[in-house]
Amino acid sequence: MVEPGSAGDGPPDHLDREVTAYVAGGGETGLTVELNERAWDRWSLRPRVLRDVSTVDPSVTVLGHRVAHPVFVAPMAGLSWLDPGGEVACAAGARAAGMGFCLSSGSASTLDDVGMATGPFLQQVYLWPERDRMRPFLEACATAGAMGFLLTVDSPPQAARYGFRGRLGPLPFVSAPNFDGGRPPAGSPADSGPADIAWLRDVSGLPVVVKGILRGDDAATALDAGAAGVAVSNHGGRQVDGSITTAEALPEVVEAVGGRGLVLVDGGIRQAEDIVRALALGADAVLVGRPVAWALARGGEGEVCRLLTALADGVVAQMALCGAATAADLTPDLVVWRPWD
Ligand code: FNR
Repeated sequence: MVEPGSAGDGPPDHLDREVTAYVAGGGETGLTVELNERAWDRWSLRPRVLRDVSTVDPSVTVLGHRVAHPVFVAPMAGLSWLDPGGEVACAAGARAAGMGFCLSSGSASTLDDVGMATGPFLQQVYLWPERDRMRPFLEACATAGAMGFLLTVDSPPQAARYGFRGRLGPLPFVSAPNFDGGRPPAGSPADSGPADIAWLRDVSGLPVVVKGILRGDDAATALDAGAAGVAVSNHGGRQVDGSITTAEALPEVVEAVGGRGLVLVDGGIRQAEDIVRALALGADAVLVGRPVAWALARGGEGEVCRLLTALADGVVAQMALCGAATAADLTPDLVVWRPWD
């Protein structure tokens, strides 16, 4: 039973130890993983009363698509380690709950299978140096129905990853059927820059949202280079350990974007209250990662749907309690920062 408004339980006991560590783990000590979750609580809610909240509509528009709830499943590689249905089961569960889905480029499911199972979906990509190998993939994403790209820029090299129970051991290889040879293009995208944003947009014909932004100046750079928006993210604390939490970074990025593009945010979003806080601070929608992975491991598509439906019900209830009938009523006056103890 998933409590209304909560993002469910942690990993199920039956899950392989290395897989649990892979999903739960963060960069180095895991400090940012922990602080991401705690930081949302620092935004105390200031509920409004005496408002008509007899009907509450949490729907939002993302890149021109109306989504019933302001939540997408974050892109996560390796979902097939959690459930044989992998990305397809996860996407179907999200669609059944009225939420969007982001497909990792490390997907073991084909684009067509995911495209058929999902509602609105964003395709995550890295800017691999082997551009020629990217093109067929980018074109296939558009054909499969992707509404845009999430271009992840916070991983020029991948950080050292430690699981919560120690250093990770080797995980089984996941075939990436959307690329020739079953592997995404090789090499680190360490040399990518702002010009690559327009390249990706022009080659694919789809809008590009830059994921991994934690600073206002970087948000402005991304938009000036042709991005349709940004995703405030520290990769769920899996890259720069000790980095600013996303709950703290969001206001500066929202100010720098100044309504010129989409703002998504992820990292430590676990409860309906966190989603209300994020939208009040100016995010258009949020991404939720690990809790969905654990739900997938516990019970596949059905459990993902149950988790996300409980979260959705909780958002509606919290909006009513805060005096917000629509997502547009979630404004910055609803939150106040309570300094760290
Ligand atoms: C990720 N994340 C991620 N991000 C990305 O851009 N491409 C990817 O392939 C992956 N893969 C991935 C795997 C796993 C197991 C996790 C947990 C995360 C990061 C992800 O999209 C997101 O930024 C964070 O997971 C959000 O934080 P929470 O909700 O997990 O705290």
